[in-house]
Amino acid sequence: MPLPRGIASTQELVEAQAHVWNHIFNFINSMSLKCTIQLRIPDIIHQHGKPMKLTELTDVLCVNEAKSLCIERLMSIMIHSKFFTKIRISEQDEKEGYWLTPASRLLLRDEPVSLTPFALAMLDPILADPWHDLSKWFHDDHSTTFVTTHGRTLWEHAGQDPRVNQFFNEGMASDARLVTSVIIKNCGHVFQGLKSMVDVAGGTGTVAKAVADEFPDIKCSVLDLPHVVAGLEGTKNLTFVGGDMFESIPSADAIFMKWILHDWPDEECVKILGKCKEALIPSKDNGGKVIIVDMVVDNQKGHEAFETQLFFDMLMIILTSGRERTEKDWAKLFIAAGFTSYKITPILGLRSLIEIFP
Ligand SMILES: C[S@@+](CC[C@H](N)C(=O)[O-])C[C@H]1O[C@@H](n2cnc3c(N)ncnc32)[C@H](O)[C@@H]1O
Repeated sequence: MPLPRGIASTQELVEAQAHVWNHIFNFINSMSLKCTIQLRIPDIIHQHGKPMKLTELTDVLCVNEAKSLCIERLMSIMIHSKFFTKIRISEQDEKEGYWLTPASRLLLRDEPVSLTPFALAMLDPILADPWHDLSKWFHDDHSTTFVTTHGRTLWEHAGQDPRVNQFFNEGMASDARLVTSVIIKNCGHVFQGLKSMVDVAGGTGTVAKAVADEFPDIKCSVLDLPHVVAGLEGTKNLTFVGGDMFESIPSADAIFMKWILHDWPDEECVKILGKCKEALIPSKDNGGKVIIVDMVVDNQKGHEAFETQLFFDMLMIILTSGRERTEKDWAKLFIAAGFTSYKITPILGLRSLIEIFP
């Protein structure tokens, strides 16, 4: 049989086959990660306190002998993906056991910045099923693939299904804990001097709570949809407001928005930014600003980082109707909404802190 058209050698043929196989089975990385989290393997190894033998791990997992070899195989792929290592148990014991890496430390449930709630949210069938309908969505009139699959937007779905509302909010809160810890440590000055701040679409208030605790003179409010903030109690300098950011935003010295504008198309972003501008009390010279945490897409950040940015951009097609943006895209939005200048501080890995001024 001749080689397929455009393929010059059998070497090129088998390499192309391996490339396609890798992409067909990329989901196995995500699903092995989900299983590892659901079995609580990072917590079990952490609680063990030293590198853990396979038999010790399978004992704690209560896995029968026949399946214990499958745990070994699961651990092999997780070691390959850098979630665990295999190292010598101790100076006295030459045998090797499984140990944690920085990535699996971020999956420990009692770790304040644990990514476990975010991972379980993103890999829940409600959020993952729409991927099967992506090609269908390209030919229908729905705003997102989520609507193609479930018949309503993610926000409507969360408003009707308490389980989705809870896991989505917990996923966002876990990310917010990580982001807040970095911002307050490395960029706390952005909050200094403010008397009030509204976290627009701030979920269950993780960022606002941390800012309110760290800066007791700032009166913080969290605006989000009524089902998100229902039953949440504020403190002396923290209040929750149920509402719609397209209708009105409470007035404040500064508006904070994390992972909001990437959820929306340009036209909606300009509307949200317009509402933010209306809500700002002081001028630029007196400290008025909008503080955004979102990605600034940059293909110079290395192969893996750029791939993650592309993943998030695709995710926005699936879940919301937004997109990830380059600096040029952001600048256009800010000008269209009437802001005069902006400052990007890339302190959050793939995301940046963007200050925009009226
Ligand atoms: C991606 S989440 C981000 C939550 C939070 N800012 C964070 O990063 O942890 C988007 C949030 O927007 C909220 N949202 C969606 N539409 C909204 C609207 N019209 N008005 C207010 N909040 C809205 C959702 O309920 C959700 O909490």
